[in-house]
Amino acid sequence: MPSHYRGEGLRSTGRQTTQFYSQVAPSEVLQKDMATQLKSGHTAEPLSDEDSARILKDFPGQVDGLVRVQPGGWILPTPYLEMADKIYDFKFRESDVVVMTHPKCGTTWTQDLLWNMVHNPNIDNPAAEEAVNGRSPYLEVDILLMGKMKEMMLSDTSNPMLKQFAELCPGANPADGIGIQMAAATPGIRIIKSHLTFPLLPPDLLDTTKVVYVMRNPKDMCISYNHHCRMARFHDFQGNMDLFVDYLTNDELFYGPYWNHVKEGWKRRDHPRLYVLFFENLKADPVAEVRELDKFLGTDLTEEQMTKVIEHTSFDKMKARDAHFPVTEEMKKKILNQEVVQNEGGFFRKGQVGDFKNKLTPAQESKIDAWTKMNTEGMDIEFKYSI
Ligand code: A3P
Repeated sequence: MPSHYRGEGLRSTGRQTTQFYSQVAPSEVLQKDMATQLKSGHTAEPLSDEDSARILKDFPGQVDGLVRVQPGGWILPTPYLEMADKIYDFKFRESDVVVMTHPKCGTTWTQDLLWNMVHNPNIDNPAAEEAVNGRSPYLEVDILLMGKMKEMMLSDTSNPMLKQFAELCPGANPADGIGIQMAAATPGIRIIKSHLTFPLLPPDLLDTTKVVYVMRNPKDMCISYNHHCRMARFHDFQGNMDLFVDYLTNDELFYGPYWNHVKEGWKRRDHPRLYVLFFENLKADPVAEVRELDKFLGTDLTEEQMTKVIEHTSFDKMKARDAHFPVTEEMKKKILNQEVVQNEGGFFRKGQVGDFKNKLTPAQESKIDAWTKMNTEGMDIEFKYSI
């Protein structure tokens, strides 16, 4: 590992983490007073001791700590530093389609939709049985593999993701990046997922490949992200919705700031290789969106094929398959808080537009509205909050 990634001043957080991570040694990778220069021209700054301690208390699953990448203020887990330059240098192919999103905006739905449009228009491809993120590689997945989950994922030989990795990348070392190596080795037209924003990806991305940037209104995204952060043990959010809305509007959530992410997509919206897809539009009129996507991708599907693909990737069908990540059922139970899953739903929770109306108080909505107003001044963008 290059020396500038881990310099002097390593520190431990000294915090005990809960539940799934209770046996994890305090992270050693948080760095103190060390800024890291990235090839993209960004600087990754460690958070202050106070901020790190506060965030780890509220998100005890985020054991590897966070850095803030400037400019942009991107909040990413510390292991990102080990991947950043490799991701920036990743060789995209002309035939690739990148699904780029802020988390919880419809990534998995879009990945499955595009993968089936390209590889399974007649719904007869047996590969479609695999989990979405097995067929459609998640470029920076390794930055989510933290603490005990990383140990489990990398040591369990029954792990379907590892098996797939071994098949696709014989002799490669998972520690060098599962996502990036699997993406590199995936043959044919690749539907590649990334939650990273344009400036952190290769600068010629849109010269090389097509990107579908998916957006979702911030209130539904907030509800979905809150559910995700309470359900996924690698976040393990402990607070209430008030606190979550504070994290969101203070731009302190993993992969955020949300508005900077959206802006990076929106400002490129006229680029011929970029398709901006709104979750709400796909939900309201999937046929119209898929027709446009068909033109964008050049898949040339018949109306019948489009109908089949839409049906195959409907919420009910995807929820019934419940195949988001290539992991065993046993692993899924460890990675996801089962109480949350049973009481409030799993990864495929509701898939609706406007569910925030059942969840946010007027005060929480006002906070999100003020933050939205502040961030969208002069932006000429409008989200639908109901359909
Ligand atoms: P909810 O939590 O509101 O249900 P991402 O893939 O970016 O993490 O987004 C997850 C959100 O997309 C979840 O939202 C999930 O239920 C929803 N989703 C997944 N597949 C969907 C589908 N086929 N149709 C509608 N929503 C879907």
